[in-house]
Amino acid sequence: MTFESPPTIQQLLAFYLEAGVDCALADEPLNRLADPDPVPAASPIASAKPPIPGAPMPTARADKTLPPEAVILSAREAARTAPSLEVLRALLESFEGCALKSTATRLVFADGNPQARIMFVGEAPGREEDLEGLPFVGRSGKLLDRMLAAIGLDRSNAYIANVIPWRPPGNRTPTPQETQICLPFIQRQIELVDPDVLVTLGNPSTQALLGKREGIMKTRGKWFDYDTGTRVIRALATFHPAYLLRSPSYKRMAWQDLRAIAKALERQSASSS
Ligand code: URA
Repeated sequence: MTFESPPTIQQLLAFYLEAGVDCALADEPLNRLADPDPVPAASPIASAKPPIPGAPMPTARADKTLPPEAVILSAREAARTAPSLEVLRALLESFEGCALKSTATRLVFADGNPQARIMFVGEAPGREEDLEGLPFVGRSGKLLDRMLAAIGLDRSNAYIANVIPWRPPGNRTPTPQETQICLPFIQRQIELVDPDVLVTLGNPSTQALLGKREGIMKTRGKWFDYDTGTRVIRALATFHPAYLLRSPSYKRMAWQDLRAIAKALERQSASSS
């Protein structure tokens, strides 16, 4: 951007919008390039009070000053110690190892019924989710709700979360490092919810959780085993609703996937009754 005279507010806003900056993070500006505190505060994850009285204290240290490998290790360590979803959420609230937290408005942990037999996992929250603190509440969320309704599901009998629990600025794609840091938390969340069926929505979630290298066109509609370490869960990959909004012709295939999910749930009910 080059201006001969100082830019107008409109020009500045247009510049920010183009760069993906579409909302204010705070009322006061904050110079994130200024020198950090000479004496850094203790890592919140190390200094936090037990998130829930009686819960084990996480021992992992995780802050942005650690090398990425150490942050990933400490995320794994912290997530492993969470005995419940409440503790896991509190751990994430105090986790300082992922830079996305500092630009997001709030944590987007999950929505739906933690007792559900089916769990859906998307990529990362968008603008609406960031404002409300709930996954899939924007346009693609409305489509996801309609997809669930088509097979008799809603948020009272399904559980919904994301691989990344903080909105990447301007909805940019999370970096592989950010995904690796957040992965242990969603893996532990799946283990704690312990659904009979796991559905990965879109490529990033499918690749991160099911370790697939192929794209969603190859993986969708297929069943995979998801091993939590304590149990193997049946997992199906399907299109992300945001993709279906952009490419409605794939809704037919998504419908086939939904029918396969409904059948798997029926079969599970029949075999457990
Ligand atoms: N896209 C996602 O992957 N997750 C959300 O919560 C919203 C949009």
